[in-house]
Amino acid sequence: MVVGQTLGHYRILEKLGAGGMGEVFLAEDTTLKRQVALKVLPPDLAASQNRLDRFQREAEILAALDHPNIVTIHTVEEAEGVRFLTMQLVEGKRLSELIPKGGMHLEQIFDIAIPLADALAAAHEKGVIHRDLKPGNIMVTDNGRVKVLDFGLAKLRRDSEAEMATQLPTEPLTEEGQLLGTAPYMSPEQVEGKMLDSRSDAFSLGIILYEMAAGARPFQGESSVSTMARILEAEPQQLADLRPELPPEFLRIVRRCLRKRPEDRYNDTRDLLVALKDLRQDSSSHLSGQIAPARPSPPVIRPHSWRLRVAVLAALLGVLALVPGVFVAFTLFSDLSAIRATIGVVWFGLIYGVLVWAVSCSFASRHDQRFTHAAASPTKHKEASLPERP
Ligand SMILES: Nc1ncnc2c1ncn2[C@@H]1O[C@H](COP(=O)(O)OP(=O)(O)O)[C@@H](O)[C@H]1O
Ligand SMILES: [Mg+2]
Repeated sequence: MVVGQTLGHYRILEKLGAGGMGEVFLAEDTTLKRQVALKVLPPDLAASQNRLDRFQREAEILAALDHPNIVTIHTVEEAEGVRFLTMQLVEGKRLSELIPKGGMHLEQIFDIAIPLADALAAAHEKGVIHRDLKPGNIMVTDNGRVKVLDFGLAKLRRDSEAEMATQLPTEPLTEEGQLLGTAPYMSPEQVEGKMLDSRSDAFSLGIILYEMAAGARPFQGESSVSTMARILEAEPQQLADLRPELPPEFLRIVRRCLRKRPEDRYNDTRDLLVALKDLRQDSSSHLSGQIAPARPSPPVIRPHSWRLRVAVLAALLGVLALVPGVFVAFTLFSDLSAIRATIGVVWFGLIYGVLVWAVSCSFASRHDQRFTHAAASPTKHKEASLPERP
């Protein structure tokens, strides 16, 4: 297949990539006048019935999955003896090209991990297991949308048993490794050639989460075999040592995905999705909580300070009132006994104090209203002068 060649009503424009299942080209659909991605099964692979079946199955699985984060298939066709499928063209970069050495910011991780988990949960709910989830099979478009590609190794759960019975014992190890996944992203049960369910994809997703955070894979040997041995036996370097600033809950989620035994991982991919979404929400509210003190003092604090000020003023006025009170009492009741004069002074002081207190309270509640109900209409003033909230 070369650039400029036509295949049916498609003109090949550029090679986009290649993998275990074939080559992918940018092509122009000359009848619909649009660009598509065209995945070709090379003639040598097309000779194998097994590969032809897988190709057909990829097309059927993609057609069954309708999700914004899974690439859309248009057609599966044959022209000039070449079998190919056409897909929506995803313009962007592979996730493998986007992970920097020191890892990504938490927000970027969420931007990718949440749609990714959403796409996987949708596939799992339809009984589809991807089995080859890795950054090279995930694209991020120029406007940030995540697209899962390459369901070439995917299968429906109900196929698993039949395939286990017929395929594995007859395939040589290299072929098996190539067919059943990509070493650094395999789950322990995948390495062991056991039957897989959605929890195997959750393990691969855990590896991707770890890699996005650390900038390096959790299990990396010198060869595929030593990498697979590590997946089976070794614990990865603690993410907390590499990225101590990440929230502990994020580290827990990754650890749970990477548990060796499938039953110790998330049972359901939707639970993993919810855990990621909750954590994102908590992290953003935690952040805004940190910013809050920098904002202007919340208005509800003001009524307290007004009440305090008015109370102090009232108390001062009350004390001051005692001076004229004593003077007036002694002038009026000079002929009476000292005890009566004192009682008179205390009464005078009390009545004066209560009056000042009442006036100042109504003054204070009018201020409360202004600060707590700045937009309230005058008809709401009565409500506003009710006892204030704590
Ligand atoms: N729909 C698409 N739009 C744009 N590029 C694509 C598309 N599908 C695949 N590619 C590119 O081709 C590469 C190989 O495709 P993939 O489906 O993973 O094939 P394989 O099964 O051979 O690994 C991808 O890594 C990606 O770069
Ligand atoms: Mg691929």
